[in-house]
Amino acid sequence: MSGPNGMLYGGDEIGALVFDPGHHSLRVGYAQEDTPKADIPAVVGVVSATHIPDAEEKVPDGNVTQTGSKAGGELRHYIDITELHVPRAGMEVHTYMKDGQVDNWDLFEKMLDYCYAKVIRSPSEHHPALFTEAVWTTRPAREKLAELLFEKYQAPAFFLVKSAVLAAFANGKSTALVVDAGASQTSAVPVIDGYALVNAAVRSPVGGDHLAAQAKHMLNNMHIQMLPLYSIQSKEVIRERERGRYTLKTLPAGLTHSWQQYMLKRQYEDFCHCVAQVSESQYEERAAASAPFSHYEFPGGYHQDFGPERFKLTECLFEQTLGAPHLACAAAAACDADARPALWGSVVACGGVASAPGWLERLGKELAARAPSSHRLKSHAAPNSTERRFAAWIGGSILASIGSFQQMWISSQEYDEGGKGQLERKCP
Ligand SMILES: Nc1ncnc2c1ncn2[C@@H]1O[C@H](COP(=O)(O)OP(=O)(O)OP(=O)(O)O)[C@@H](O)[C@H]1O
Ligand SMILES: [Mg+2]
Repeated sequence: MSGPNGMLYGGDEIGALVFDPGHHSLRVGYAQEDTPKADIPAVVGVVSATHIPDAEEKVPDGNVTQTGSKAGGELRHYIDITELHVPRAGMEVHTYMKDGQVDNWDLFEKMLDYCYAKVIRSPSEHHPALFTEAVWTTRPAREKLAELLFEKYQAPAFFLVKSAVLAAFANGKSTALVVDAGASQTSAVPVIDGYALVNAAVRSPVGGDHLAAQAKHMLNNMHIQMLPLYSIQSKEVIRERERGRYTLKTLPAGLTHSWQQYMLKRQYEDFCHCVAQVSESQYEERAAASAPFSHYEFPGGYHQDFGPERFKLTECLFEQTLGAPHLACAAAAACDADARPALWGSVVACGGVASAPGWLERLGKELAARAPSSHRLKSHAAPNSTERRFAAWIGGSILASIGSFQQMWISSQEYDEGGKGQLERKCP
């Protein structure tokens, strides 16, 4: 199929883009590439005019956009780490995601503007856009996205694919039981011959955000203070478990609660990424005590070894009814009995939390104990943690670059003629 000016979609002349929006980050990049060009935190910093100091009058040529007139309700938006992580008076942090889908379209537009201008650095009307979506995405949200891409961004073509289907593709499967352990939730979605079985999909709110909250709780109980990294000017080298000695930075007045909480959450996440480990079977103090320790230094300089706590922390991910093994079993049980052997033979794990060390092994072990013994159980996941987290994006990158997919796109012409109805027909 050829697009405007006879250019080929997905061919060499023009690059199709893949967008994978999540609660934690948005992955965006060119189809055919191995990894996304950018992985951008899924929040937008917003500062209103009353807080913009005169010295900053001119909008810098950074990741910043400005809307509204000077007189009435001017807002500045700050996107991506280099702008967002700077302490600014009055900067509130807002997310545009809710319940697995885009909810605040004004903010999401700011994010897309940023993607085209600063990441892709090419006009949106030159690139077909493939978006991933959660199986629960509502019809109004899908239609709104199509409308935005065709009407505001003038995309030559657009397509929506369920992220579970793409994660299966990334692992070389068209039939799989996809277990996605993300930030806001963990889900299990059966995929048969490239179609996600929406009615059999199950999810729970236990994901990376919950893990970070557990880490905060655990450190509080251990009386370990997580000082904000942005507040530390310098720190001294001290012995293990000695009280930190540091000097504080002078910070701008008026830092918002939402920004401070966002920054602290990133620190608890970092702690989890460095320290958390999933034990092979249910947590047992004595076994955990003999496992290797992991050393962590906090922003104020305090540092210590973590031993059994590393394992105790992640037990919440395998909770009886909310954990990944239970979800996988529930999703498989909701499918026809004759589909189950293929699903059990092809469990695909993806998402950021699935890259926690030991997570996949634990899932495999628990599933082996729960799955019917007549079924051969086999789990798959990308060996490297980035690929595991980017599975849906990578699947989109593969799909959008294969020849036979090119006729699947909804072209702008089809959208003009058939409207939003095209969506249900072409992207079921
Ligand atoms: N090694 C790790 N150990 C534990 N958690 C991790 C690790 N690496 C990433 N995470 C967590 O994974 C989450 C991000 O995963 P992912 O990118 O799959 O989420 P998302 O797709 O943006 O969110 P969602 O699926 O909820 O919409 C974060 O909460 C992050 O802290
Ligand atoms: Mg996700």
